Amino acid sequence: MNHDKRIAIYPGSFDPLTNGHVDLIERSLKLFDEVVVAVLHNYKKEGVFTVEERISMIRETFPDTPQIQVESFDGLLVDFARIKGAAAIIRGMRAASDFENEFQMALLNRKLSKEVQSVFLITGQRWIFTSSSSIKEAALFGGDISDMVPIPVLKKLMGQYPKLHKTIEAKKINSSKICPVDL
Ligand code: PNS
Repeated sequence: MNHDKRIAIYPGSFDPLTNGHVDLIERSLKLFDEVVVAVLHNYKKEGVFTVEERISMIRETFPDTPQIQVESFDGLLVDFARIKGAAAIIRGMRAASDFENEFQMALLNRKLSKEVQSVFLITGQRWIFTSSSSIKEAALFGGDISDMVPIPVLKKLMGQYPKLHKTIEAKKINSSKICPVDL
């Protein structure tokens, strides 16, 4: 383990990155010197975006932050954590419904490795209802999710979902003064 730098792994599917994730990454940097955002290469479950696309969106969101590394991994998370010299696995907890799954995962990871600790951060209140899957569903039907994802992700979602593209374009035309979207 690297004792000079406190490294944390922040694993997930990130299909795609949301502002809830961004908030967690930024807060993790207050606790750790370096955060490795680890995108799971899940051969069983295909996402909307490829792993390479997810990684690009995350890197574009944090272009000037060398303390944030973005990588993909497969196999066991604890093995990847060991390779990276990480002291902790960061997970966000939105509500009680997240707890069961996170609790099981943390116990299993602890059984598999005693070298890495699970650290839970409570999701920022503003992002409690934000999840990658609900964003994709809303985007599919043209729901305005522009304040729930970073700009690089919004652009990518607009390319993927024509109805979202229409919604955002209409918003820019109708309310250019109050529109927070700067594309
Ligand atoms: O964003 P997600 O889908 O909730 O992330 C789940 C993730 C990637 C953290 C979890 O599936 C994982 O760690 N997978 C790697 C395989 C592994 O180590 N499994 C044992 C612990 S669950």
